[in-house]
Amino acid sequence: MSTNVVILAAGLGTRMKSKRAKVLHRAGGLTLVEHVANAALGITSPDRVVVVVGHQADEVIATLEPKGVRFAKQTEQKGTGHAVMMCRDALEGDSGLVMVLYGDCPLLSADTLERLRCAQERSDAAATLITTRLDDPTGYGRVLLDEGGNVRAIVEQKAATTEQLAVRLINSGIYCFRSELLWRYVGEIRPDNPACEYYLTDLAEILNRAGHRVAALEIDNPQELLGINTRIELAEVDRILRERKARELMAGGVTIEKPETVVIDAPVRIGIDTIIEPFTRITGDTVIGEDCRIGAGSVIANSRLADRVEVAPYTSIADSRIETGARVGPYARLRMGAQVERDAHIGNFVELKKTRLGACAKASHLAYLGDADIGAGVNIGAGTITCNYDGVRKHPTKIGEGAFVGSNSTLVAPVEVGANSYIGAGSVVTEPVPPEALALGRARQVVKEGWVRRRRNRMQAS
Ligand code: UD1
Ligand code: MG
Repeated sequence: MSTNVVILAAGLGTRMKSKRAKVLHRAGGLTLVEHVANAALGITSPDRVVVVVGHQADEVIATLEPKGVRFAKQTEQKGTGHAVMMCRDALEGDSGLVMVLYGDCPLLSADTLERLRCAQERSDAAATLITTRLDDPTGYGRVLLDEGGNVRAIVEQKAATTEQLAVRLINSGIYCFRSELLWRYVGEIRPDNPACEYYLTDLAEILNRAGHRVAALEIDNPQELLGINTRIELAEVDRILRERKARELMAGGVTIEKPETVVIDAPVRIGIDTIIEPFTRITGDTVIGEDCRIGAGSVIANSRLADRVEVAPYTSIADSRIETGARVGPYARLRMGAQVERDAHIGNFVELKKTRLGACAKASHLAYLGDADIGAGVNIGAGTITCNYDGVRKHPTKIGEGAFVGSNSTLVAPVEVGANSYIGAGSVVTEPVPPEALALGRARQVVKEGWVRRRRNRMQAS
């Protein structure tokens, strides 16, 4: 049977106390609504997924558009039932099944959706909904069953009696409807509750009254059904997703010390025998090779690290590339397309921006290297600065292979330092340095013998 999926993602999410729409908050590195869309795409094709957007619709659309899903607008947020009504035009013509999911339920798996679809396909019910028993059902709608174990009604927390509040069977907000019956009855939902909202949950009672059965599919992994309404729940789901990722990596041959402290996004790939030390954060589109070590407290985003790379503690790497055998850190910073080639070494308090450091080159301490192209085997002395900015524009520095840049050199860009040349420590380099030359750009040292004694005598006399 064909299955269309509706994802409700139009609400603001008042309980998040945020300027950002709830479904755009992130857990495990993805927005909540991306997680739900991924689960939906696990059971149906993109053209059969309709996302209802309203609050910050443009941002939600921008997030999901690459997946090829469709969108329906809900201009005013009048409740979950009203949101589903917005998909009528897009889907009413289709027979088969319509699944409704909420965009704030990110742990949901495609396997569970598949189970729901099979259960509904095999039954004569008008709809099937997923439910579970929670020790603390606070906040969720409660599912009331009849003697036959079918759903008689769903009552929202706010509208429930004391007796109903004691019910532990909750509404997950994951439903599978027979298409034709959904579109026939959804219009009968009335906003007759204190919030004046159209509750999708009222449809259970409406279908019952019309003589149709609503089935409940109870699952025993309540974690998957966690709906996020507050930042506290967001943190809990994020923790679960991070733990899942860490376990997946460890199962795949990565050592993680204190896995409960690391934050690794779902798409990140890490090779076998790499060791991840505590409190690291590895995010975005990052790939790390085999036999690497990522030091404690390091932060790596959108970067490529080849095999045998060593990142010493507290190093920050963003949008950069590090080749095999290179060593970086501790306390180093690589950003904006920095490239560290094979077996090169970057030590403490060195910053690289849009800079290539050639194979086996070294910048071992305290340097700023921006917009620079540094050849293989170059030695950058401690305190070297590329002055790449003239207050208006950025300029490049080029250092040829095997050059030796003495400590505390100031390279005023644009400037070129030739291969195998030497720059004396403390030089300010403003002119090109030819290959194999020695450049000294500093005042000659003056020594005044006996100066201290003469000064003391002068002072005593006066
Ligand atoms: C809802 C259910 C509740 C269930 C819980 C599960 C209703 C009335 N209640 O409550 O029974 O236990 O989910 O997590 O359905 N949305 C729209 N347009 C709107 C309102 C909401 O698109 O006008 C979207 C939101 O963006 C959100 C989803 O629907 O992604 C659910 O809305 P939310 O306000 O979180 O409902 P709950 O109070 O959690
Ligand atoms: Mg919710």
